[in-house]
Amino acid sequence: MKDLHGSNAIVTGASRGLGVYIAKTLAGRGVNVALAARSAERLEETRRACEALGVRAVAVPVDVTSLDDLRRLTDTARRTLGPIDILVNNAGIELTASLVDHSFSQIDDIVRTNLGAPIWLTKLVLPDMIARRRGAVVQVSSLAGKAGEPYGAIYSATKAGLIGFTDSLNMELDGTGVRASAVCPGYVSEAGMWEAQGLTAPRMLKEVPPQKVADAVIKAIGGATLVPVTSGPIRPLFALADLMPGLNLWVARRLGVIEMMRGQAERLQAGADRPPVGDVAAGGADAQAAQRQ
Ligand SMILES: NC(=O)c1ccc[n+]([C@@H]2O[C@H](COP(=O)([O-])OP(=O)(O)OC[C@H]3O[C@@H](n4cnc5c(N)ncnc54)[C@H](OP(=O)(O)O)[C@@H]3O)[C@@H](O)[C@H]2O)c1
Repeated sequence: MKDLHGSNAIVTGASRGLGVYIAKTLAGRGVNVALAARSAERLEETRRACEALGVRAVAVPVDVTSLDDLRRLTDTARRTLGPIDILVNNAGIELTASLVDHSFSQIDDIVRTNLGAPIWLTKLVLPDMIARRRGAVVQVSSLAGKAGEPYGAIYSATKAGLIGFTDSLNMELDGTGVRASAVCPGYVSEAGMWEAQGLTAPRMLKEVPPQKVADAVIKAIGGATLVPVTSGPIRPLFALADLMPGLNLWVARRLGVIEMMRGQAERLQAGADRPPVGDVAAGGADAQAAQRQ
């Protein structure tokens, strides 16, 4: 989809982090936006910022893990904006912990938020898109979906799942006028969940600003299927990793990523360095203990 002006989009995870940049970037291109997340007040701030850019914007507080909430989101979006042309599944959570320290309910939360909800929401918007022969579905995956992130096994699994989902969906959507894409950010500075960890990315994969992710979403809507968002070219490394199983582990060791994330997991587990974002997504000993079942 090239001409976005006057289109209607749903953006999840628009209360903070990358979702705010994505929503404002779409609004800046004349796209009306339905904004979803749980925090109503912060969502309202994003709504006002988008409206100030001259588009119609509606805030719909929802928990994306609730199918009823997602139905309410799509109904409200259609009623207030019109048919949905663009879906950006951006809401996501992570937990930096070894698999043995993930509780079963935390595993369930991460899978339902990062993978289940995007699949449900895609299923809800797709029939109208196909009927109108117009639509773009963008999944905000991660580099962790291409190369596993240490101490983020469930997170990485969900992000890889989004890439598989996108790849398969594009085959059945071939010729329908609707396209699916996955955007894969590496480490993002200034806003979002990596910034909240308070760590420094390895030099080879240094951080990118959040606007680069929002620009990648525009590129995805324009037709790119898989859009990595890193500080340098990463596709040759993807290709090499496919040819050489074990390369990801070697690179992660060499870059010190395993050590860095093990240290972070241990700090969070000990509750010594609770990150500022106060939910399960951000970890922290209290949140982890509360969730352990
Ligand atoms: N930041 C990075 O470096 C990075 C790198 C690669 C990929 N990503 C991906 O980018 C996306 C955005 O991440 P971010 O960095 O912006 O994280 P963030 O700052 O933690 O924001 C996450 C967003 O998701 C929403 N959300 C979480 N659980 C939800 C739920 N159950 N229902 C509704 N909304 C929910 C949050 O809103 P509420 O809490 O208000 O509900 C918030 O708006 C995620 O999919 C993440 O995996 C981020």
